[in-house]
Amino acid sequence: MNRPIVELVGSGRAVPEKVLTNADLERMVDTSDQWIRDRTGIRERRIASDDETLARMAQCACTQVLEDAQVDVLEIDSIIFGTASPDRLLPSQACDLQAALGADNAAAFDVTAACSGFLYGLAVAEGLVAAGTATNVLVVGGDRLSRITDYTDRATCILFGDGVGATLVRPARNGDRGILSTYIKTDGRLGELLWRPGGGAIHPPSEEMLADHSYFLRMAGREVFKHAVRSMADACDHALIQAGLTTNDVDVLIPHQANLRIIESLTKHAGIPLEKTYINIDRYGNTSAASIPIALDECVREGRIKPGSNILMVAFGGGLTWAATMVRW
Ligand code: COA
Repeated sequence: MNRPIVELVGSGRAVPEKVLTNADLERMVDTSDQWIRDRTGIRERRIASDDETLARMAQCACTQVLEDAQVDVLEIDSIIFGTASPDRLLPSQACDLQAALGADNAAAFDVTAACSGFLYGLAVAEGLVAAGTATNVLVVGGDRLSRITDYTDRATCILFGDGVGATLVRPARNGDRGILSTYIKTDGRLGELLWRPGGGAIHPPSEEMLADHSYFLRMAGREVFKHAVRSMADACDHALIQAGLTTNDVDVLIPHQANLRIIESLTKHAGIPLEKTYINIDRYGNTSAASIPIALDECVREGRIKPGSNILMVAFGGGLTWAATMVRW
C-alpha cells in the first residue's frame, strides 16, 4: 500500500477551567506534592464541572479544527470519538457530538481503546478514507476520567485529568505529507491491570457497587508502568520501520502523557532524545484519549510542529492497548 493515503489537517483542544493542584489533593488523601511530582511529574490537572460535558468540550475542539481546515461542518462525513468515559453509554459520545456540531451528513461512532483511543481512531479513519467510504473524518480523543476516578484511592486519583483534542483526516493532497505508518496492538489477557469492574452488563449498577467502589477505575500501577514502557518503545520501532525512517528523522515525539518517568524511560528505550519529546503532563496529568491530540494542538500552535515536520505519536492504555502513528504534518 502506498502511503500517505490520508493527511491530518487542523487541530483543536478544550480543557476544563477548574485546576486541581497537588496541594488540593493533599487535603483529600494521604499524599504530598513532593511524592506526586517525584513519582509522576504532575503538578496539576483540569477537572470538568457539571456543565463541561465531553460533548461540549469536543464541540469546542472540533470548531477549532474546522476553522483551521477551512471545512464546513456539513462536509464532515464521519466522526470517530475515542473515549472510555462517555457522557452517557447510549447513544454514543460521537452521536451527541454530531448533534452538537450540526454535522448532519456525518456517520458517528465511538472507538473504545482507553488512552490509545485517539490513535486507534486515526487508524480507523485512514481505513474509511482508503475504502472510499469517507472523505472528511473528524477524529476526536476525549475523556472525563474524573467521573470514574475514586477520590479516596491515592494510587489513582492523583493521576487523571479531563480534556478533549481533535483533528481532521482527509485524502492526502500535499505530496508526501500525511500518515506514513500505523501500528496498533492489544493484549486483552492483561485487561484487569487497568479496569472498571462494575457498571457493565455483568455487574450492572447496584448499591453494592457504590459501597465497594467497583464503579471506579482500578489499576495495578507498577505492572502497568512496565508494560507501558516496553509496549510504547516496541510500537515506536515498528512505526519507524514501517515508514522507512529512523529515530534521527523524528522531529517531535508525542507520547501519551501517563507519567513523566514512563516518558523518560520510553525515550531511552526508543533512542529518541528527550529534547525532541513534547511533555505537558505537569499541567494536565493523564487525560487518557485526549493526551495526544491536546499535545498535538499545543505543538502546532506553539510552532513546534510545522508543515513537513515528522511527528511520532505513541500511546498506551487499558485493554491493554497500544499504538504508534508516524505522521508528516
Ligand atoms: N502518595 C503517597 N504515597 C503513595 C501514593 C500517593 N499518591 N500512591 C501510592 N503511594 C505509596 C504506596 O502505598 C507505596 O507505599 P509502600 O511502599 O509503603 O507500600 C509506595 O507509595 C510505592 O508505591 P508504588 O505503587 O510502588 O509506586 P510507584 O513508584 O509505582 O508509583 C504510580 C505509582 C501509580 C505513580 C506508577 O506506578 C505509575 O505511574 N504507573 C503507571 C500508571 C499509568 O500510567 N496508568 C495509566 C496508563 S494509560
